[in-house]
Amino acid sequence: MGSKDLTTQSEPAAPQFAMLQMITGFWVSRAIYVAAKLGLADLVKDGPKTVDELARLTGTHAPSLYRVLRALVGMGVFAGAEQRRFAQTPLSETLRSDTPGSLRSMAMVELGQEHFPAWGNLMHSVKTGEIAFDNLFEQNAWEYYARNPEDARNFNDAMKGLTEMINAAVLEAHDFSGVDKMVDVAGGTGGLIGAILGAHPRLRGVLFDLPQVIAEAGPLLEAAGVRDRCETAAGDFFESVPEGGDVYVMKWIIHDWDDEKATAILKNIHRAMKEKGELLLIEMVVPEGDQPDLSKFTDLNMMVMTGGRERTEAEFNSLLAASGFELTRVIRTASPFCVIEAVRA
Ligand SMILES: C[S@@+](CC[C@H](N)C(=O)[O-])C[C@H]1O[C@@H](n2cnc3c(N)ncnc32)[C@H](O)[C@@H]1O
Repeated sequence: MGSKDLTTQSEPAAPQFAMLQMITGFWVSRAIYVAAKLGLADLVKDGPKTVDELARLTGTHAPSLYRVLRALVGMGVFAGAEQRRFAQTPLSETLRSDTPGSLRSMAMVELGQEHFPAWGNLMHSVKTGEIAFDNLFEQNAWEYYARNPEDARNFNDAMKGLTEMINAAVLEAHDFSGVDKMVDVAGGTGGLIGAILGAHPRLRGVLFDLPQVIAEAGPLLEAAGVRDRCETAAGDFFESVPEGGDVYVMKWIIHDWDDEKATAILKNIHRAMKEKGELLLIEMVVPEGDQPDLSKFTDLNMMVMTGGRERTEAEFNSLLAASGFELTRVIRTASPFCVIEAVRA
């Protein structure tokens, strides 16, 4: 029996389709989470595999795995649903664990057991102004990571993957050639400082973060070949940061905190830096207009996870001024991130 085209004039209007797509966006996200968690992109990196092979290798239920993969194929993540033999695509390639800029850990962080439930509690933040994560988990995100080393490792890997996506843009945006010593404040496991020191053989660096993060920092610095020029220092930036740097870099830190806490961190840097020192913040800058922008949703991510916020250029200006700095330049990079330069006011 031939199939019949039932397209009629009663099709939903375009806004309904668009809204339906937005409402069901998390279906796509969660299917991506399953693919990332099971490491499917790694399993097909050397060539296509049947769904039965993939199910055997991942200890999953083949018919259900097939349905997840078929749905993802429709989104361009993997190919080959018709033959039940799944192959890599440019989109699934981003979920491999061994490629520069890998998003596999990011998918697991955002869509696994921390961020995803916190987003489920967004209404709590909206009603109370409180942090959804803290309300749900009865601790803050940094305490959670200190108590859950496997999730912390995954978080650090996610940061590393995202950092690899933008290292080149940062190096292009700012000239580090005349700098003697840079300090990466809350630099995670060292992805950014490794790339900057790697590109500038005379530059020395200090990587500073919480003790449990610094404890994991060695391998990345070794891999970047900069271990001998990069000190590591563990501590709490609300108490103090390492002294005597010419350039202090903070990537994705200020957005984690509200204005009061961000000011406290900035004042500690102000105290520690050399007289003619420079501060670089690598952050998204929220555009003033109505246009769609990733920063407007990252802002919600901060609302539910840490109580921080993304800021407009005017907001960065006043935050920096309140901490004794003068914003000198905002450099837009080829990535969604800007390099915000500031000096002592
Ligand atoms: C969003 S991550 C960014 C890490 C890194 N700058 C990057 O871009 O990959 C925030 C970092 O802040 C660090 N952090 C949180 N609270 C801190 C504190 N009180 N003192 C020092 N570092 C802290 C975390 O350990 C984490 O590495």
